[in-house]
Amino acid sequence: MKLWGGRFTQDTDSLVESYTSSIGFDKRLAQVDILGSLAHAKMLGDANIVTPQEALELSSGLTALLEDLKEDRLEFRVEDEDIHMNVERLLHERIGPVAGKLHTARSRNDQVALDMHLYVREAIGEVQSGIRGLQEAFVEFAEAQMGVIIPGYTHLQRAQPILLSHHMLAYFWMLERDFGRFADAASRTDMMPLGAGALAGTTFPIRREQVMQELGFSQLYENSLDAVSDRDYLLEFLSASATLMMHLSRLSEELILWTSEEFGFVELADAYCTGSSMMPQKKNPDVPELVRGKTGRVYGHLQALLTVLKGLPLAYNKDLQEDKEGVFDTIDTVLPALTLFAGMVKTMKVRRERVESAFARDFSNATDVADYLAAKGLPFREAHAVVGRLVLTAIERKTNLQGLPFSVYEEASELFETDIYVAIDTETVVNARAARGGTGRTAVERQLEFAKARLNPGEPV
Ligand code: ARG
Repeated sequence: MKLWGGRFTQDTDSLVESYTSSIGFDKRLAQVDILGSLAHAKMLGDANIVTPQEALELSSGLTALLEDLKEDRLEFRVEDEDIHMNVERLLHERIGPVAGKLHTARSRNDQVALDMHLYVREAIGEVQSGIRGLQEAFVEFAEAQMGVIIPGYTHLQRAQPILLSHHMLAYFWMLERDFGRFADAASRTDMMPLGAGALAGTTFPIRREQVMQELGFSQLYENSLDAVSDRDYLLEFLSASATLMMHLSRLSEELILWTSEEFGFVELADAYCTGSSMMPQKKNPDVPELVRGKTGRVYGHLQALLTVLKGLPLAYNKDLQEDKEGVFDTIDTVLPALTLFAGMVKTMKVRRERVESAFARDFSNATDVADYLAAKGLPFREAHAVVGRLVLTAIERKTNLQGLPFSVYEEASELFETDIYVAIDTETVVNARAARGGTGRTAVERQLEFAKARLNPGEPV
């Protein structure tokens, strides 16, 4: 007999039963479901909606279920449809008919909303610590590799030399914004829906503020229809996750390029790579590849929920049950990605000889030759043209700008003096970009201090 079976005369079709059942995935909500019920039961007692004795029986039964859950002793059944009815049935098995009083002044519609708020609130906290962990790895890497220069790119063409530390810290700041987006999502997850009933509220004199405080929420929904229909906070979680994954995917792409022999800038630790069953020499960057690939599914979950919601009339519709798997899968995708990346960044080796030799046939100091002329008064456009011709000459002579004899410079412009060679030395070029936010060593060291201050708020910069 179903909990809702009173008005039915036929058994549920077995395919309908399995198709509509959500216990297969919402069993993940067991703990928060029971915690929510504990707060509800206590409130029912305090408000004299059930007797103090009944409230006590409900509470101790629920506490025992919580213990059983920890020991993995709870058995869920598909016939009981979802986590809420499974828990109610298990409570009934434990404490008898008084279990039936727990659902007073409550519907599964506000219950499931409460469960998801509690669950996602927790998940956001975990994602935020994962973000912090990866940010620490970037800081550690940037400190260890301070001074290493790599080519910087635009259009994936050599542009200007930069510090490797500067490049990696760019990701620190992307993650800093991600952290903020999750904090923002958390502020709207922090809202207590219980008391909305099925859609219209309840006739019982419930105390919503008490439940709100008991469960550590700082706000409650002021409209019962909104409380049971709102999935915005899940969209925000998915959207923040999609953006985070996009950042990790961009880093993935760079690591995949950088570990190729063509770039050869870094080598990932063996622990983060896999081999080939056929080609004995292979060491593949599977982790970044998979993170890049899994970014697609997180985007998909965001798109899926947006689509589920777009045509729904108020208030609850069974469609809303479709909110869960995508959110759970997103959590399961994002959390390990953050942990894996932190470990990978901390253990990857820079191939200094390859990075240094990258500059042998390189024109990424060309802007600095033009800046040199501009600083001496030549309009930058003209300087640009002069250096363009110098680059052409260097290409013809199979060398780079440092390799051109001074006679060539003299001929190109009388403004050149022999200090041009110092001015375009790779290290000079990098360190000259000393303004705040630039790639010069002093600027990056300052940036590192700002980054560390974000990780340890309260400590002076
Ligand atoms: N399993 C349902 C869900 O996840 C719980 C709410 C069901 N409510 C209802 N009236 N069928 O959305």
